Amino acid sequence: MEPNFWHDKWHQQLIGFHQSQVNQLLLTHWQQLDIPSQGQVFVPLCGKSLDMCYLAELGHNVLGCELNLSAVEQFYAENQLTVTSQTLAEHKLFNCEQIQIWQGDIFTLAAQTTQNISGFYDRAALIAWPESLRLGYVKQLATLIPKGCTGLLVTLDYPQETLQGPPFAVSPTWIEVHMSEYFEIRLLACHDVLEDNPRFVKKAVPWLNEAAYQLKRK
Ligand SMILES: C[S@@+](CC[C@H](N)C(=O)[O-])C[C@H]1O[C@@H](n2cnc3c(N)ncnc32)[C@H](O)[C@@H]1O
Repeated sequence: MEPNFWHDKWHQQLIGFHQSQVNQLLLTHWQQLDIPSQGQVFVPLCGKSLDMCYLAELGHNVLGCELNLSAVEQFYAENQLTVTSQTLAEHKLFNCEQIQIWQGDIFTLAAQTTQNISGFYDRAALIAWPESLRLGYVKQLATLIPKGCTGLLVTLDYPQETLQGPPFAVSPTWIEVHMSEYFEIRLLACHDVLEDNPRFVKKAVPWLNEAAYQLKRK
């Protein structure tokens, strides 16, 4: 999607993707990835996700990247976190004790920014891209994730013709075909979550699978 699509969504606070609680698949599967609790965790397209607070509570240093300035400001304000910021080229770096966010475009984030991460967490980031842009995101993610680094990927899949994204449908096959060049992939869970998603029910989407994958950068 074009940056203005997301800026408009944040401006109008049309942020149905934001969860008021920590993601259940993160709660269930993160600990089994064995990422050192002191290790830094990268959260691409982080929005103002409370999942970052959960990761910080586990002891991680969190490194988010988010395009929209207001999203970042809302995150720190709503979680009562005292934050400093500095402008670094085309990004703005926000810093509090355990949660740093690079505000700006993930495509212009330098690989050295994430060179010390031990893990990563992608929820509603891969599925935010239409098919035509998704591969570009995967390539950038692969550039930013150092070899050997493990992460959790949370996706949605449904018959794409029944609803206009985002979120866009990403199937296990798409992930296998387009991501296995860069990552070892292991499916951890897959459940139909249609009943919990009124927008999809209203549009008569017949099924909606939420899946969690463990990814390891090759
Ligand atoms: C679907 S939301 C998901 C947010 C978050 N992961 C969550 O679970 O709530 C996608 C987010 O990606 C941000 N975004 C879109 N394009 C981006 C880009 N090129 N670089 C960084 N962030 C971007 C949007 O502003 C939006 O907050």
